[in-house]
Amino acid sequence: MKTIAINSIKGGTGKSTLSVLFINALMRAGKKCLVIDADASNNSLSFYLDNSSGLEASQGHTVFDLFLGTKVQDCVKKVQDNLDLIRGDVRLNEFRSTDSLKRLKRALQGLDYDFVIIDTSPTYDNIIGNVLTASDILLIPVQQDIFSFQVLKYQFEKLADLELDDLDTHIIFNQFEKPLNGNQETYRNQITNMFLENEVFKPFINKYHLSRSSVYRKYINKRNYRLSSKSETQKGYEEVQNLVQNILGVTIKEVI
Ligand SMILES: Nc1ncnc2c1ncn2[C@@H]1O[C@H](COP(=O)(O)OP(=O)(O)O)[C@@H](O)[C@H]1O
Ligand SMILES: [Mg+2]
Repeated sequence: MKTIAINSIKGGTGKSTLSVLFINALMRAGKKCLVIDADASNNSLSFYLDNSSGLEASQGHTVFDLFLGTKVQDCVKKVQDNLDLIRGDVRLNEFRSTDSLKRLKRALQGLDYDFVIIDTSPTYDNIIGNVLTASDILLIPVQQDIFSFQVLKYQFEKLADLELDDLDTHIIFNQFEKPLNGNQETYRNQITNMFLENEVFKPFINKYHLSRSSVYRKYINKRNYRLSSKSETQKGYEEVQNLVQNILGVTIKEVI
């Protein structure tokens, strides 16, 4: 079992989008997955994945109960064959200053999934500390702007404090745009080079990225929209396939 955290301290970088793309790719590859929505302020992942009515979706145990000690089996909701979801909960905020960083790691021990995927809030607190401590892989989506760069520096300082030397960390450019007309002097290109030339970030920047594309926005907003290797969505399909293959070593099917 591999546990994947998706976190950036900046909001709107594509954490939930990346989570959904990876989850659906793994579903298509026949993997058994548990998804945990650990975003205390915006449960978009629960919304994307859970088809049930609002009232029904508000019943039952959540990630809050998981942190309190309720067993995973009693917190999960089956949302598809091979896909279990633990829904988000605003009460997760209660654990922002918890003294233990191992609650989640303990809760996830001995489970029978291929992958556990955890979407998170754009914050740094002890909930994120718990998520990172429980994870094998960290995906950090970033955008080509100066604020993303500054926030990433802060995030790496915090990561160093946790001393998670085995955490397989990947910085992934999302909403990536190439310089117009190959002009290297554009603001965006200068910022991109700042990331690529930074000694701390350099070893962790993945060679693949997700472009800025309405295809991804549609993918999140339209339930039946698919990315396919043989249609106008081909580029999106290939970008996801490259990332999933590179990071997880999993080959996905022709359509996700
Ligand atoms: N590669 C992309 N191209 C175009 N729009 C994107 C892309 N990635 C994310 N978005 C859009 O950006 C917004 C924020 O994405 P989201 O995944 O919710 O970010 P986060 O979970 O980090 O807050 C959403 O409206 C989403 O549809
Ligand atoms: Mg989100």
